[in-house]
Amino acid sequence: MRLHVADHPLIAHKVTVLRDKNTPSPTFRLLVDELVTLLAYEATRHVRVEQREVETPLQKTMGTHIASPAPIIVPILRAGLGMLDGMTRLLPSAEVGFLGLRRDEETLEAITYANRLPDDLTGRQVFILDPMLATGGSLIAAIEYVLTRGATDVTCVCLLAAPEGIERVSAAVGERADVSVVVAKVDENLNDVGFIVPGLGDAGDRLYGVV
Ligand code: PRP
Repeated sequence: MRLHVADHPLIAHKVTVLRDKNTPSPTFRLLVDELVTLLAYEATRHVRVEQREVETPLQKTMGTHIASPAPIIVPILRAGLGMLDGMTRLLPSAEVGFLGLRRDEETLEAITYANRLPDDLTGRQVFILDPMLATGGSLIAAIEYVLTRGATDVTCVCLLAAPEGIERVSAAVGERADVSVVVAKVDENLNDVGFIVPGLGDAGDRLYGVV
């Protein structure tokens, strides 16, 4: 598994405002959207392309297009939904599949409650969106889900990650597939209830309200 930590002052600034407990939901949503657009630039660095001819007003030339089959973006509900618009803005030809996961608050195990994805992901580049990589349980479940459907090229886009979660995902994936994680910031650690510290709290709650 490859890890890419985005190192950019604009990203650092926006993450700091997200962390602020006084940032209200409308601003939080806007910042998540802006951050994803910046991270998507890095996350799509290896998006598959093909060469195609294009005719300019002056002459024909060879150009670059996103290759077929189209990539598929998979936001992990709920919080990943806040990252979807920012990602599709950069990759408008991508398709979107949905995966609903929630952490059991006691065991921290990821529980799947919804999925709407093609059965066959062979040859598809997959972009998984989830703002928080805490214990890694949710991301591992999502990665396993797409690998068992034939995907071999998976990029995960996260805002904050805990070192423990990164280690777990890396160990779970091993050498089985080409998996990378693009993250805005790696935080200090997990606290004893599985929250990223210093973190930003519960991303789903801050985007959409307390369940
Ligand atoms: C949060 C977060 C991730 C997951 C991360 O979701 O959005 O999906 O926990 O934790 P993990 O790495 O330990 O699995 P949550 O279960 O709070 O659901 P929500 O998005 O519906 O709020």
